[in-house]
Amino acid sequence: SRAQKLELITQRLRGFPDFPIKGILFRDICPILKDPKCTAAVTDLFEEYVRKKHPIVDLIVGLDARGFLFGPLLAQRLGVGFVLVRKKGKLPGPVKSLSYDLEYGKADAEIQEDAIAPGQKVLVIDDLLATGGTLCAACELLKVQQAVVLDCLVVVELKDLSGAERLKPHTVFSLVSYD
Ligand code: PRP
Ligand code: ADE
Repeated sequence: SRAQKLELITQRLRGFPDFPIKGILFRDICPILKDPKCTAAVTDLFEEYVRKKHPIVDLIVGLDARGFLFGPLLAQRLGVGFVLVRKKGKLPGPVKSLSYDLEYGKADAEIQEDAIAPGQKVLVIDDLLATGGTLCAACELLKVQQAVVLDCLVVVELKDLSGAERLKPHTVFSLVSYD
């Protein structure tokens, strides 16, 4: 059931204090991926939500690097393609870039200019929403591409950092949240 899947996912998440810097409680998703049943549970719950809420999806957009772990699994389930938003300097050909801040640092996000056609409906996926800096930058890049961002999907949401507020008017669906 849905509740059993959520319970398994919650069980598999673990926290590491003061990583990668002092004061950050790092939520580690590695044990989820190490367990194929748990990985399938994540994909099941995302698929169930998307099928109910978004009947038409053209592409899944995944964020470097941990969005790449969950995005292609969901894209395969839905029978749609997967597009990468990468950190600076990793994608060949013409790209659009944007700098952003995240919970413990700074980075630049890039997308290939030809990745998405104007008007295509996309879902943006990542492992975790903290301050929302990363997802906001991705949505901004997608706006430049004239993509329609239907929703953002994350496995974990850190509520106290108010990432969902920052993401507005975009919406986010999370499987597990911490205060
Ligand atoms: C982490 C995480 C999210 C982002 C969330 O990625 O996977 O992408 O931070 O933080 P924010 O909501 O405050 O922006 P990170 O940049 O550490 O890179 P990684 O996926 O390559 O480990
Ligand atoms: N990305 C940003 N903040 C994070 C956290 N607390 N745990 C794991 N990934 C993160």
